[in-house]
Amino acid sequence: MPKLIHTIAEWRALRAEHRAAGRTIGFVPTMGALHEGHASLFRAAAGEHPVVLASVFVNPTQFDEQHDFEKYPRTLAADCALMDAAGVTVAFVPSVDEMYPNGTRYGVVETEFSRELCGAHRPGHFAGMLTVVMKLLQIADAEAAYFGEKDYQQLLLIRGMREAFFLPTRIVGCPIIREPDGLAMSSRNARLSSAERALAPQFHSALVAAPTVEQARARLEAAGFRVDYVEDRDGRRFGAVRLGQTRLIDNVSLRVE
Ligand code: PAF
Repeated sequence: MPKLIHTIAEWRALRAEHRAAGRTIGFVPTMGALHEGHASLFRAAAGEHPVVLASVFVNPTQFDEQHDFEKYPRTLAADCALMDAAGVTVAFVPSVDEMYPNGTRYGVVETEFSRELCGAHRPGHFAGMLTVVMKLLQIADAEAAYFGEKDYQQLLLIRGMREAFFLPTRIVGCPIIREPDGLAMSSRNARLSSAERALAPQFHSALVAAPTVEQARARLEAAGFRVDYVEDRDGRRFGAVRLGQTRLIDNVSLRVE
């Protein structure tokens, strides 16, 4: 099992030992409810570093809807088993007070791309996400941090933040892991009813197969999805949809491979 720690002081002491022994650190931030997508990030980190730090923290400041925060699955025992199998050395599971000692007085704001795509539908989400990732990168002080491409807009914003604030940690993007029917793996999939789960793969197939964003939107709406957006930009098609209470995001490359 990974060593379970709850405080920044505990990690700093461990990190000093690893550094003194010349061991590099790969860091994977998560909100828990771990699945194969997270396991692929842990394995990517473990392939490049002898020490893998994972954080499990359901960050309250990146939820724009209170019920989404409350309903977010919390599954620490199962998460520890998955982390163990995927090579995580240390699991950092802080409290809200540990992460926000001065509340939300300080934060990271991006004023352009964070207001588009998901940002246009989830006010405050990316400021909360960038703020917690900035805190976590400072705490981890790792050589590299690993993020999934399912949250592609998140990945681009984190890369931009790294450049803007001269952060030393390398940011590594890892490919989306999908279910056999094409649905991108997500902690939120667990909240789909069986009827919604049966419909959900049509989200990915519409993004891949529809010739235009208008046709993708029409296809999704006809199938019963509520569409937040489907947009093509920089060689990718981005989408976000709602099925019942659950919001799903996905993106696909438009380049012919
Ligand atoms: O992608 C996530 O799970 C979260 O946005 C992250 C990066 C762990 C920050 O809370």
